[in-house]
Amino acid sequence: MFDLSAKVAIVTGASRGIGRAVAALLAQRGAHVVAAARGDNAAGTVAAIQAAGGHAAPASVDVTDAGAVEAMVAATLERHGRIDILVNNAGITRDQLLLRMKREEWDQVIATNLTAAYVCAQAVLRPMIKQRGGRIVSISSVVGQTGNAGQANYAASKAGLIGFSRALAREVASRNITVNVVAPGLIDTDMTRALTEKTHGDWAAQIPLGRLGEPTDVAAAVCFLASDEASYITGQVLAVNGGMYM
Ligand SMILES: NC(=O)c1ccc[n+]([C@@H]2O[C@H](COP(=O)([O-])OP(=O)(O)OC[C@H]3O[C@@H](n4cnc5c(N)ncnc54)[C@H](O)[C@@H]3O)[C@@H](O)[C@H]2O)c1
Repeated sequence: MFDLSAKVAIVTGASRGIGRAVAALLAQRGAHVVAAARGDNAAGTVAAIQAAGGHAAPASVDVTDAGAVEAMVAATLERHGRIDILVNNAGITRDQLLLRMKREEWDQVIATNLTAAYVCAQAVLRPMIKQRGGRIVSISSVVGQTGNAGQANYAASKAGLIGFSRALAREVASRNITVNVVAPGLIDTDMTRALTEKTHGDWAAQIPLGRLGEPTDVAAAVCFLASDEASYITGQVLAVNGGMYM
């Protein structure tokens, strides 16, 4: 099940947290992973994958830089001749109540979480269409489904990913390319460790399964959607949230 041997996958924001777990699991299933991160931040992820016997290469990419994204896609094609899987994972928060939210905080979050997904998807579409197949999986959030006070920018970007993916799913379905979304709940990463202990506790109390999620929980969902077994699933949102939102 979920054999990804010989598939070529690009994972953005692969230096840590969910992106790192996704890169590791795709590689464990046999994929050649291009681990994209700013500067040389993906080095640790690549070293860990290679140490476990997997195939990975780093790509130095800020996803808000369209030129860098295009260069990564060109380099991947040059090296492997194909791109089978794109995982739009890179994301940031700049939390603030809307009354106080600066334009810059809005713009940064939309650029990183939403516009970058458009840039990356557009860059891989041509090779995927040529191959007559591909998988695009974007990491949204439960906050994109429910909203959350203090996160209007983040919620808009994550809800935007859902609409974007459904529209694109319809555009490329005839080319055998599936486009899906994974919507994590509260996952134990650096992003949520930045929350205060009290906020953390308040959120955790709302999770029916009684625990925070692990990056590997999210990676498993991404791996499934990226696999041949998920070939009849497109335009869907797979929630990985411990039942927090049903
Ligand atoms: N942790 C959670 O509870 C949770 C819940 C729902 C959704 N998510 C989403 O999952 C994804 C991963 O989050 P995480 O929890 O692992 O957070 P994280 O902060 O640990 O990791 C985010 C990754 O994105 C990278 N990144 C940020 N801006 C970038 C840019 N401009 N270019 C390239 N890389 C960039 C970071 O370097 C990092 O590797 C994000 O999209 C986040 O919104 C997380």
